[in-house]
Amino acid sequence: MINIPKGTKDVLPQDSYKWQYIESVARKVAKDYNLKEIRTPVFEHTELFQRGVGDTTDIVNKEMYTFKDKGDRSITLKPEGTAGVARSFIENGLSNSPLPVKMYYVIPAFRYERPQAGRLREFHQFGIEVYGSASPDTDAEVISAAALFLDRLGIKNVRLNINSIGCKECRTRYNAQLRAYLLPHLDEMCETCRSRFDKNPLRILDCKEEKCKAITLDAPRIVDFLCDECAEHFKKVQEYLGCAGIEYSVDPNIVRGLDYYTRTVFEFVSGDIGAQSTVCGGGRYDGLIEELGGNYTPAVGFAVGLERLLLLMENTGVGFPEDEGPDVFFAGMDDDSRKAAFSFAQKVRESGCSAECDHMGRSVKAQFKYADKIHAKYVVTLGGSELESGACRAKRMSDGSVYELKFEDIPEFFKKLKEQ
Ligand code: HAM
Repeated sequence: MINIPKGTKDVLPQDSYKWQYIESVARKVAKDYNLKEIRTPVFEHTELFQRGVGDTTDIVNKEMYTFKDKGDRSITLKPEGTAGVARSFIENGLSNSPLPVKMYYVIPAFRYERPQAGRLREFHQFGIEVYGSASPDTDAEVISAAALFLDRLGIKNVRLNINSIGCKECRTRYNAQLRAYLLPHLDEMCETCRSRFDKNPLRILDCKEEKCKAITLDAPRIVDFLCDECAEHFKKVQEYLGCAGIEYSVDPNIVRGLDYYTRTVFEFVSGDIGAQSTVCGGGRYDGLIEELGGNYTPAVGFAVGLERLLLLMENTGVGFPEDEGPDVFFAGMDDDSRKAAFSFAQKVRESGCSAECDHMGRSVKAQFKYADKIHAKYVVTLGGSELESGACRAKRMSDGSVYELKFEDIPEFFKKLKEQ
């Protein structure tokens, strides 16, 4: 037998309604914020992620699914959504559209990580990206979209942590201080952090190794090194979050695992899903479009991990709307009435309702049992006498009530029920 690759998951027919529900809530939130869907390829040129996500990040260094295609090009399955959207924004001249350009996506993403609860090699993200506005109210609006999404799903127990990692100038001043602080501990740090020391010391604050974590505990904090403009921006983001009634904490340790961020960064975290506690991460990235060859375009966005969301909903007993069965099941007794059942099922579907009939040669009793199992709302039984009289009975399965129906009224009956 061939098994599923490690770190991937099937979504089975009995569970797919949960995904459809989460995605429908995501799309409704996107619509309410006037975000339009953008679809970019599942794979991109590897260089996009090296330059976009950053070559000092774990994602680019250790986790990418990279391969040579038959034309000897280096191709990578996208490890996240932002870089592809940025590439598309530049390539398609979207900066000429009315600003801001507000986009969202629901995508698979791929990272070669050690699988555990909430951490997969293929996972899914609902993300939004807003391009063209440098204004702090945009950061707050993006954050509020994530908050509303979680709220609409009925998720209550998540905390929003925010931070500012400033602009290039703030970071140059901060990096000097951080290096001075870390230098005496350099020998005690892990190899990856030692290599990050020169290139990008901020990354060291994101290390998961206990010994590095202990060293960085008392490190200087970037919020204390913000220039006046960045400090003002951060203050305004908080004021606007207040306007939207969104609760948050400032967490000076958030630096995020991707290199493109500037100023605001944020995470929604939960205590109910184990070690992989970040359900949603995002922030501002004003330099990415220029980094990728476009004109200066400020941007802000986030992505929610859908598997983590599902895990959180299941672990905390947040319900899903029930998976609905068909509106009606037509049971047939013999060859003629089976044909009638088949043709009524077709007519009912054509009228916009869902219908089922037997395909397994079951007895009428077994058909009834099956209809009950698949949660059919009504069952119509057809036999010789029904075919003769041109009328039948529809039994409502929830309470056993029975409705007399002429054959010609069948599609209308179910259509009306649906409209109620
Ligand atoms: P990220 O923090 O790398 O940010 O990922 C966002 C979310 O994707 C995480 O909070 C988590 O829920 C989920 N996630 C990440 N890796 C895995 C994994 N291996 N298995 C399951 N879920 C995972 C980004 O991807 C940025 N592009 C977000 C962004 C958009 N920033 C600005 N715009």
